[in-house]
Amino acid sequence: MKFLVVHGPNLNLLGTRAPEIYGSQTLAEINDLIVKEAAALGVEVEMHHSAHEGEIIEILHSGIPEAAGALLNPGAYSHTSRAIADAVEAVPWPVIEVHLSNIHGREPWRARSVTAAAAAGVIAGFGAGSYIAGLHALKALVEGAR
Ligand code: DQA
Repeated sequence: MKFLVVHGPNLNLLGTRAPEIYGSQTLAEINDLIVKEAAALGVEVEMHHSAHEGEIIEILHSGIPEAAGALLNPGAYSHTSRAIADAVEAVPWPVIEVHLSNIHGREPWRARSVTAAAAAGVIAGFGAGSYIAGLHALKALVEGAR
């Protein structure tokens, strides 16, 4: 079972970007945690990062034939991108949206995610733990455990 993990814009700067909000782990460290947890769960993960809206859409499309689901942190595109929301809706498997920070406890404009409406669910506010919880939730969802 293969899952895509897609990190959106500015997440490559984790570690130095607003550590009081996003924590001090780098994206590489977070990816390591995800890969280890995936191995423990017996699932394969394919990691991606892109700062470009169209590329994020193409990454999702690239998983259509073989992936069973995706974890997606669209970054600020969460709040603006109907095109990514359409892609999340269009792929034939579930997408779980993840955020490191609690988008509901920050600036009011962050509380609305247009992409989340198309996702199977949203996990926000647990730092790297959002991805780890997302991995468990996605596996359970794909295996029909709900
Ligand atoms: C984020 C939250 C977004 O509002 C922000 O633009 C990001 C990161 C998060 O993971 O908490 O880039 O998606």
